[in-house]
Amino acid sequence: MTKSASGPPWWATAVFYQVYPRSFADGNGDGTGDLAGLRSRLGYLHDLGVDAIWISPFYRSPMADGGYDVADPCDVDPLFGSLDDFDALIADAHALGIRVTVDIVPNHFSDEHPWFVQALAGGAGSAQRAKFIFRPGRGEHGELPPNNWPSVFGGPAWTRVADGAWYLHLFAPEQPDLDWTNPAVPAEFERILRFWLDRGVDGFRVDVAHGMAKPAGLPDVDLSVIPSREEGATMPSLDDIRWDRDGVHEYHRIFRRVLDSYPGDRMAVGEAWVPDPERLARYVRPDELNLAFNFELVKAHWGAQAFRDAIERSLQAMSGVGAPCTWVLANHDVDRAASRYGGGMLGVARARAAALVQLSLPGAAYVYNGDELGLDNVALPDSALQDPTWQRSGHTERGRDGERVPLPWSGTAPPFGFTSAPASWLPMPPDWGALTVAAQESDPASTLLLYRRALALRRATADPCESSVDWLDATQDCLAYRSGGVVVVLNAGASAVPLPAGEVLLASGPMEQGVLPANTAVWLRA
Ligand code: NOJ
Repeated sequence: MTKSASGPPWWATAVFYQVYPRSFADGNGDGTGDLAGLRSRLGYLHDLGVDAIWISPFYRSPMADGGYDVADPCDVDPLFGSLDDFDALIADAHALGIRVTVDIVPNHFSDEHPWFVQALAGGAGSAQRAKFIFRPGRGEHGELPPNNWPSVFGGPAWTRVADGAWYLHLFAPEQPDLDWTNPAVPAEFERILRFWLDRGVDGFRVDVAHGMAKPAGLPDVDLSVIPSREEGATMPSLDDIRWDRDGVHEYHRIFRRVLDSYPGDRMAVGEAWVPDPERLARYVRPDELNLAFNFELVKAHWGAQAFRDAIERSLQAMSGVGAPCTWVLANHDVDRAASRYGGGMLGVARARAAALVQLSLPGAAYVYNGDELGLDNVALPDSALQDPTWQRSGHTERGRDGERVPLPWSGTAPPFGFTSAPASWLPMPPDWGALTVAAQESDPASTLLLYRRALALRRATADPCESSVDWLDATQDCLAYRSGGVVVVLNAGASAVPLPAGEVLLASGPMEQGVLPANTAVWLRA
């Protein structure tokens, strides 16, 4: 991390807010969120107190995977607006002091990207095919896939084309993997990075940062090391040779060199699903990415010991490479925190407490849109499901739509001010009236106001130079530590415990005299 005289760079301690653009706010009344909708709500994000936004893909895309199938990485999909809308958005965000970061999707393109269209036309052995991973099949007539790799969304990771060759797609068939050993690929991504950097973006979120390098010879994977999604596992095992190959780090060094050639502390955060914080730390060595999502709190079950382990192991691993931790509670790929912690009132109480833990820790933090409203996952009807996982798994896995339902802004019935269309792209539950931004703004006990207060206090009390916490004695099922100017106490147990002495600056739930209720966290003045 390069430190200037005034302390660490902005991103090292920033609170980033993830905008899932289809679901944040609709500006043109077609039922799907867009850049104009986001622009119209920048005041909300300013009042919330975030330092930066990360916008999930809004590029030209046939939307086979919600925009992570990119057909033109240097243009805005008409669903989301235009490049002019983007320029207006970034200008307004910067005027409000909000930095803007965008996704980059380097592992694959859409099958509608001109490169892949040309690769299909080019035929076997062509230079166009060499940008992707085409192989002959196994079996007498090449009728079997080149290896046994499954795709993340279900089914094989290979699809056969008309002339008999197979191409690799770790995700959907509409997302052919790029071959990063072909110099044309890194050169193209350098161009894409520069395109957005020149437009003023402050940084990138690197999709599938652990997947771009493939093992030489593409050998079979030991299928027994791949847990089924029903087991709730998202973290690949160390023995899953599809991911986290050593070769990937050279590609991140390329990104870093581009970023560092621009003024203004531009940054990149990697989405690297790796089994432990030590592996993750390799992505943020001094010449690689600036940040890497730390999913340890996403993996941790509710409980004081699980949280403490997650925090300790993460801080220790990151301090080994001199990088800040990047705390994550949820995103568009995992169940919302409130649902993971039990759902309903209990889940929300715990998610609020977990947020006070997350936002107190040294480093950067990512808040997923809607978590500041205490939203739960939504049980959608089969007919509404759009995630490719639903189809690819033969309707055995419902996928990620439940955490992607649009945000409720106002009113008492769907679509709750999200759109002027009669309905939103995913249906919103009729009972979200009390969860709208408008309703929560006038409720002092709301999750929204808790987040606003937490972010304001964080600004006032965090020590940007700190990279560890001081653990304090705590009763069973509790967690206590000092971080910056606050002492944090979390009671993850089932009954109230005595509240340690000190001035309560913020509590995640209703307090009782002298005790810290179950499923509650507090910040005390240190
Ligand atoms: C990770 C993204 O977050 C997810 O939504 C997407 O499906 C995969 N990468 C493939 O791009």
